[in-house]
Amino acid sequence: MELRQHMPQPGPSVTVIVPTLNERGNVHALVERLDRALVGEDWEVIFVDDDSTDGTAAVVRELGRSDRRVRCVQRLGRRGLSGACLEGMLASSATYIAIIDGDLQHDEKILPDMLADLRSGAVDVSVGSRYVDGGGIGEWSGERARMSRFATALTRIVVPVPLADPMSGFFAIRRDALEPSLRRLSAQGFKLLLDILSASPGLRVRERAYQFNRREWGDSKLDSMVLWEFAMLLGGKIGGRRLPARFLLFACIGALGVLVHLAALRAGLLAAMPFHWAQLAATIVAMTSNFWLNNAFTYRDVRLHGWAFVKGLLTFGAICSVGAVANVGVAQFIYGMQYQWWIAGLAGAALGAVWNYAVSSIFTWGGRTGG
Ligand code: GDD
Ligand code: MN
Repeated sequence: MELRQHMPQPGPSVTVIVPTLNERGNVHALVERLDRALVGEDWEVIFVDDDSTDGTAAVVRELGRSDRRVRCVQRLGRRGLSGACLEGMLASSATYIAIIDGDLQHDEKILPDMLADLRSGAVDVSVGSRYVDGGGIGEWSGERARMSRFATALTRIVVPVPLADPMSGFFAIRRDALEPSLRRLSAQGFKLLLDILSASPGLRVRERAYQFNRREWGDSKLDSMVLWEFAMLLGGKIGGRRLPARFLLFACIGALGVLVHLAALRAGLLAAMPFHWAQLAATIVAMTSNFWLNNAFTYRDVRLHGWAFVKGLLTFGAICSVGAVANVGVAQFIYGMQYQWWIAGLAGAALGAVWNYAVSSIFTWGGRTGG
């Protein structure tokens, strides 16, 4: 009798990628839920763990010893949601790849529908969406809900695809739809879906509603990670160079101006103004308040009064308008180079600030200042 050394078994057709950072207490429950949701599928799950300190990777490997569908990719010395998901995708050879959070906040029960979308051949990416009919954000506080909607609205302005939930971290994609753009993805940051869609604008997308669950175990990492990324970015931009105190003050007043703008916009909307008029009024209010504050503090030594104040306000307005055009142009350019939307946005804003500062110090406040 001939003994075969090797019995080839086909690989799974679906890989579920789960990025994890300190999610030990959620691993078992997630695998059980996937098992229930994916009956009839030949699936595997790859946890991509960024060296969690709570032993998440060990829990995953322990499960993997009794269930070959459960695998772990443990990354050392690296961080980042998009990069983790990307490495998970690259470790899979399945035809269909799904990404889902490891904290049970995404509803795995819609995975079969998402996979059906991909198999239909009419859809390249099926996205779990909180913002289409039937979807929702569960028990988020009004504040967090507003923040999320605001960020989503901003994103939709810069993203070329009409997607209700472009920030979703829950989606399924066909491998052949992903492969052409792999080398163009930035892999930094946390908006992998946005990255993929802007690298391959031709992809056909469908959104599937789901209810965002409450997190029962562990804490959210994204808030602190996003802040950290902002800090790194600013650090890299400013790094080492000494900034003139006057510019720092100017920039702080500019940042305050954003709040003034939003407050004025809200007031306008509450007063039932049409949005574009409210936005225009808010722009004028914020610019005037910026001018007034800079005149009172940043340029206290060369303060303008009377008629010179009015002329100063007008030149300041003209300069800021040009700054705004430059801001949008640069942001658009950088965004076109496949950077994250917020890096592009921030770079545009930084350029606008530098322009406004440099030019207004000469034309508005007379260039009589020592820098
Ligand atoms: N490997 C790895 N590396 N995993 C990470 C990292 C990281 O640097 N940061 C976060 N994760 C994992 C978490 O362990 C979790 O499984 C998942 O990524 C989502 O992180 P949360 O910290 O739970 O994010 P959230 O709930 O605040 O954010 C939600 O909204 C975002 C945008 O609206 C999620 O649905 C995100 O997927 C979504 O992009
Ligand atoms: Mn979460």
